[in-house]
Amino acid sequence: MGFIGLGRMGMHMVKRLLAGKIKVVVWNRSADKVKEAERAGAVGSSSIKELIGKLPPRKIVWLMLPSGEVTEQAFKEVLSLLKKDDIIIDGANSNFHDSIRRHEEAAKKDVRMLDVGVSGGLKGAETGYGMMVGGKKETYETVLPAIRALAIPEGFGLVGPGGSGHYVKMIHNAIEYGMMQAIAEGFDLLENGRFKDIDEGRVSHIWNHGCIISSFLMEMAELALDKGVVDHKPYVEDNGEGKWAAIEAMEHAVPFVVNSYALHARYLSRDDDSFAFKLLAGIRNEFGGHAIKK
Ligand SMILES: NC(=O)c1ccc[n+]([C@@H]2O[C@H](COP(=O)([O-])OP(=O)(O)OC[C@H]3O[C@@H](n4cnc5c(N)ncnc54)[C@H](OP(=O)(O)O)[C@@H]3O)[C@@H](O)[C@H]2O)c1
Repeated sequence: MGFIGLGRMGMHMVKRLLAGKIKVVVWNRSADKVKEAERAGAVGSSSIKELIGKLPPRKIVWLMLPSGEVTEQAFKEVLSLLKKDDIIIDGANSNFHDSIRRHEEAAKKDVRMLDVGVSGGLKGAETGYGMMVGGKKETYETVLPAIRALAIPEGFGLVGPGGSGHYVKMIHNAIEYGMMQAIAEGFDLLENGRFKDIDEGRVSHIWNHGCIISSFLMEMAELALDKGVVDHKPYVEDNGEGKWAAIEAMEHAVPFVVNSYALHARYLSRDDDSFAFKLLAGIRNEFGGHAIKK
C-alpha cells in the first residue's frame, strides 16, 4: 500500500505495517523522513505521483496528514491518479462533513474510500491503535490485513457508512477533552486546597493502580506530573474535534454539557487579559461598589 505523511503518527504506523509484513511505498514532504522509512524497509518516493506509479494495480493509499487544507490537497491529487476500485483511506482527524463529501467525490470515479479515526497517540506505536472505520463493508474487508497490523487487538471495527469513522472519532475526542478537564481540575484542588503537602505524583500513581479513575489519561497525567508542569504556560490548544462535536450536539439538541464546558475551558486558558472578566468586575463595581483590582 501507499502511505502519505510520516509525522508523529504516520512514521510509527508505517513501521507497524512493515512489522506486519505489509509492503509500503511512502511519500513525505520532508525527504529525511522518507529516508528513515526506507531504512525501516519501506520503498521511498519523491512525489505523490511517483508513489502511485510504484503501487501495483488495485492500489491502496493511506493519508496521515493534518486535517483541513493539507489533507484536501493530497486527497485531490491522489484521487486524480487512482482508477476504478482503487482505495483511498484518510486516517487524519478530518471533519466528518468533509469525509462524507470526499466519499461522494471518490464514488464518482468508482474509487473506494474509508475514513478512519485513529486513537492511541504516541503510545499506540508500541501497543497498536484504536481504529474506528467508516465506509463500505467490502472495502473494509479488503483493507483488514493493514488495519489488523496497525490496530490493538479488539480495538478496531467498521462503525458505519462513509463519514462515520471520523464522526465517532470526533465524539471520542470530545469525551477526551471532558475527561482531561476533570483530571486537571481534580489535581488543581489537590494543589490549591487545604492540604499543602500532598504528593500529587504519588496520588496519580495510586489512582492508576486499582482505582476507578485509573485510565490511559490518568497515566498521561502521572507522566506529566513526573516531568513537572510549573514552567508550562496555562494555554491549551484544540484541534477542532471538540468544537465540531459541540456544534453537532447543539444541532441535534443533545445535552453536551461536560464536553462543551471542557472546550470553553480551553478557550478561557488562552486569554490572560480577559475582556469578559474585566467587564464582569466592572458590572459588580457599578451595582454594588465592589472593589476593582488594578
Ligand atoms: N498525534 C496524535 O496523537 C494523533 C492521534 C490521532 C490522530 N492524529 C491525526 O493524525 C494526523 C497526523 O498527525 P501527526 O500527529 O502525525 O502530525 P504531525 O506530526 O504534525 O505530522 C504531520 C505530517 O503532515 C505533513 N505535512 C504537514 N503540512 C504539510 C503540507 N502543507 N504538505 C504536505 N505535507 C504536510 C508533515 O510533513 P513534514 O514531515 O514535512 O513536516 C508530516 O508528515 C492528523 O490529522 C492528526 O489529527 C494525531
